[in-house]
Amino acid sequence: MGISNKHIVLGVSGGIAAYKSADLVRRLREHGAQVKVVMTANAEQFITALTMQAVSGQPVHLSLLDPAAEAGMGHIELARWADVVLVAPATANFIARLTHGSADDLLNTLCLATEAPVMLAPAMNQQMWQDPATQENITTLKNRGVGILGPGVGDQACGETGPGRMLEPAELVDAVFAVFASGALEGDKVVVTAGPTWEAIDPVRGITNLSSGKMGYAVAEAASEAGAQVVLVSGPTCLAPPENVRLVSVCSAQNMYDAVMSEVGDAQIFIAVAAVADYRPVSAAQEKIKKHRDTLTIELVKNPDILSAVAQRDNCFTVGFAAETSSIEKHAREKLEKKGVDLIAANKVGDGEGFTADDNALLLIDRGEMRSLPSMSKPQLARILIQEISKRYHAKSPAQDSRRAHR
Ligand code: PMT
Repeated sequence: MGISNKHIVLGVSGGIAAYKSADLVRRLREHGAQVKVVMTANAEQFITALTMQAVSGQPVHLSLLDPAAEAGMGHIELARWADVVLVAPATANFIARLTHGSADDLLNTLCLATEAPVMLAPAMNQQMWQDPATQENITTLKNRGVGILGPGVGDQACGETGPGRMLEPAELVDAVFAVFASGALEGDKVVVTAGPTWEAIDPVRGITNLSSGKMGYAVAEAASEAGAQVVLVSGPTCLAPPENVRLVSVCSAQNMYDAVMSEVGDAQIFIAVAAVADYRPVSAAQEKIKKHRDTLTIELVKNPDILSAVAQRDNCFTVGFAAETSSIEKHAREKLEKKGVDLIAANKVGDGEGFTADDNALLLIDRGEMRSLPSMSKPQLARILIQEISKRYHAKSPAQDSRRAHR
């Protein structure tokens, strides 16, 4: 666990504490994070873009209408790229504009456009911090789920003393680590399936599908970040397993079924992301099939349905994925009932969507509300999915929560 390879957008607004932002970037990168810096026009009065570019190793983003960014929409590109947006320092003016939904510069706009967690490290004169206008803005932002880090109390650049100092870079790095270690599934065992299955026709041929494993591996990683003990039962993929996740490699649907059944007995949550073959050849040829005949008929038999089997056991909160090419909601609702699961995450597949893509969008459907998660990177999406699963799991299983509290 940690922030290695995590995508951090660091927003810098115009305050004297901006000189510490360079050190913050350096520290985040020392932990393996990728950092892209966005500066407001006022921030450039305090620290140069050149400095931030040198420490981040990336071009610095300054303008809302950047012709160099994808289709001139840098804010959307950055909003999607970010795993977390941290604004440090966040001035009183930036905070006020964010509260009111201003979209007149790049930093404000991307904060509105992102699905990633947004965190602010306020930095300002103590009287400005304590002013009722600022305090109301902070309360509003907190209620909207924006993380407020600090401020610290002490001597200020203006010569006064009180609350309003930006937290030190090391403290901000700790806060970023905490985003990826929510603890929401601490002590729980989560089994995730991922990737395709391979149904052998002969020793060198088989029936498979286009699943890359990206979505399932991202879900496994997000569950691990949330503190769960994760077992990833994966069909053949080219991906390295996430850190702290136990990988069980399988080939066919039957192998996957066996592996899952031997792991779910003591698991609290099962998430079926794998694209499991519905059918397999009745028998695989022992030798490579020769092309003597003009036509070849392969008789197929149904594979066991892993998700339905786990849902029937009743000890696990079960989450299924639904891969649909049309009528997504309708088909997903049918799967919710037919398979008897607690939650379905439906995605559109085909035409470059879903399978193999780096981004995905999901429709979350259970027997209550429905939530649509717009297109974003699979790791980002997985983190939100895990939060949604955790909320529903804890609501459904308060008894297990209290057992855990006494462990
Ligand atoms: O791996 P990627 O390239 O990142 O692509 C991700 C994905 C598109 C594969 C993923 O997001 C996804 O949609 N996974 C489910 C694919 C699928 O098989 O959907 P389905 O609608 O056919 O199956 C419904 C559910 O039943 C799934 O949770 C599936 O894992 C499960 N199932 C299906 C058949 C079976 N025999 N056993 C099962 O457990």
